[in-house]
Amino acid sequence: MKKTLNHTQVYVEEKGQGTPVILLHGFPLDHQMWRPQMEALAASYRIIAPDLRGMGQSDVPATNVSLEDYADDILALMDEMNIKKAALGGFSMGGYVAFALLRKAPERFSALILANTRPEADGPEGRKNRMNMAVALYDKGAAAARDAMLPKLLTEHTRQSQPQLVEELNTVMGGMPPEGLVHASLAMAFRQDSVDLLASIHVPTLVIAGEQDAIAPPDVMKTMADQIQQASFHVIADASHLTPLEQPEAFNALLTDFLGRITV
Ligand code: MLT
Repeated sequence: MKKTLNHTQVYVEEKGQGTPVILLHGFPLDHQMWRPQMEALAASYRIIAPDLRGMGQSDVPATNVSLEDYADDILALMDEMNIKKAALGGFSMGGYVAFALLRKAPERFSALILANTRPEADGPEGRKNRMNMAVALYDKGAAAARDAMLPKLLTEHTRQSQPQLVEELNTVMGGMPPEGLVHASLAMAFRQDSVDLLASIHVPTLVIAGEQDAIAPPDVMKTMADQIQQASFHVIADASHLTPLEQPEAFNALLTDFLGRITV
């Protein structure tokens, strides 16, 4: 379904009933990356997976976007859906949005899932890479982000053994609105550093890394988890960056166990 949030049409996938769990996707992806989690958890939870503005089926904004804007959309979505408090999960870029949400409205979230994400802001080199990505997106369309990201999302073994998953991701990433991805690249380039936020997180937190993830490596994620008071840290074997889709059973086992122990 589509909802009008802050004057923008945002697509939201919703499944199941019970405690609300909001799942925020990464770049250059959309809600479809959470398919295995939606299927596994919908029997016990109300899973809500939006497409961040400019990505997936959501409208592409006409002006620039910050991570705070994405966060404002999520707060507007919660108001619109009458959700006072939810468990919040963020994968990679979705984790950056989760940090922005915790800065803005920590009282709205009772538990946190941080998957394959990191708290530091980009340095000059990282920013330059994002600018180059933005230019490449104008030149080549969404294929620029797809081709750059695909080798980093899955292990070599998964890419060889699961051609169907590779095909699915190619379709999702290749179909993204290029200008929406430009907005996302620049929003990430100029995102706030969230390292200082970590000590202020006082909710149960599940931190999940992928053993072979080069974007949010396990040691970086372990350092992040060590700074969050109630965090538990897990590394999923035989996984690169996209753990929820690459190792859905292991991911879902951690998620189900975690959600079973929290109260919203
Ligand atoms: C993502 O998966 O969302 C991106 O890799 C995040 C990033 O580029 O920093």
